[in-house]
Amino acid sequence: MQFTYHNPTKIFFGQGQIHSVSQAIQKGMKVLFLYGGGSIKANGVYQQVLAALAEHDVIEFSGVEPNPTVETLDRAVELVKDQNIDFILAVGGGSVIDGAKYVAAAALYAGNGWDILTGQHQVTQALPIGAVLTLPATGSESNMGSVITKAATQDKLAFLSPAVQPAFAVMDPDVMKSLPERQLINGLVDAWVHTCEQYLTKPTGALVQDGYAEVLLNSLKTLGEQFAERDNDSWRANLMWTANQALNGLIGSGVPQDWATHMIGHELTALYGVDHARSLAIVQPWLLRNQIECKRAKLAQMGRHVFKLEESEDLAEQTIAAIESFYHSLGVATQLDKYGDDKAAAISAIVNQLKQHNMVVLGENQGITLDTSRAILEQALK
Ligand code: NZQ
Ligand code: ZN
Repeated sequence: MQFTYHNPTKIFFGQGQIHSVSQAIQKGMKVLFLYGGGSIKANGVYQQVLAALAEHDVIEFSGVEPNPTVETLDRAVELVKDQNIDFILAVGGGSVIDGAKYVAAAALYAGNGWDILTGQHQVTQALPIGAVLTLPATGSESNMGSVITKAATQDKLAFLSPAVQPAFAVMDPDVMKSLPERQLINGLVDAWVHTCEQYLTKPTGALVQDGYAEVLLNSLKTLGEQFAERDNDSWRANLMWTANQALNGLIGSGVPQDWATHMIGHELTALYGVDHARSLAIVQPWLLRNQIECKRAKLAQMGRHVFKLEESEDLAEQTIAAIESFYHSLGVATQLDKYGDDKAAAISAIVNQLKQHNMVVLGENQGITLDTSRAILEQALK
């Protein structure tokens, strides 16, 4: 266990917290107010943010799409440069916040912004960012990751830099009241898989990381079981906080991490438009089955501590089945059926994209080669 942990994002959590934006951004700053397709206008978040920014110089940029594209974001980069923006306020879900991170970094880079995603440019500086979270799922509001798509080539790639970690995040669970059921479920599943990616590896005896990961999984399992009673303050607050804690860097500190489900899932989103969380539910059970020998001990531990399963020789197998049942109980599919009518061609297309993106050895043991990914996809595609 050896790590440096630093999470500098200041969190304003609770009902009515959006007004905190007013104090959180220095007065006199020129602020880019970045948002998505307009859900914030329908639920009153837009009006609350504008009220909080009454004493700031504000310029708006809307239309950041789910799975944000570099094509759209580069227009925001131009605006930031032209208008000498000092601060970027992202108001939305993971897509808008990830988009803000890209814009903040690309605005201070003279080259082609896409270099940030290909790794040709390492981000060391960016404009400061704040986030008003409207969809709990990704943890982007207090982490240093960002995932951006190039629509022209269907590339969905990630970058990480402490320079783009938000300075603050406002988490008011009331904003979730307007979320469609589908997005609430996506949030639950994404946070679940984030926890698994940092927990379902090999035993290291890291009691705090394991124990806290199990707390988060138990919390998400309870929220899933109580899904019918989701229209209450406590349910919303618990999902918002759990999803944040699942990917703020803490449970992954000093322990092996997997992330292969995410890397394969990103290709499904880029090629077939599957929602991010749903791409994970399609890949993960099959990946776990494929990798069961190296993950057996942690799967068994999850079976005991999360699903409360009895000891048995096939505890790991039972745990995977329980994960799959959890997804099914939420109406989330664990196989992809929308890929056209040629399964072999679809698998080759996905594997080819993995190769293009240098995702040729994945997982905590670097044991998931392209052939392994192909075998996983054989099961994951219906
Ligand atoms: O665009 P608007 O109109 O705001 O509508 C959005 C969008 O259509 C809507 N929505 C958001 N808040 C709402 C709302 N509708 C009603 N009421 C509200 N309060 O929900 C839709 C989906 O939003 P999006 O931001 O795309 O969802 P999510 O938060 O799941 O983000 C997904 C993106 O994050 C990336 C994914 O790859 C994907 O691109 N990820 C980012 C990570 C990170 N930065 O750490 C990690 C994740 O694993 C993930 O890869
Ligand atoms: Zn995710």
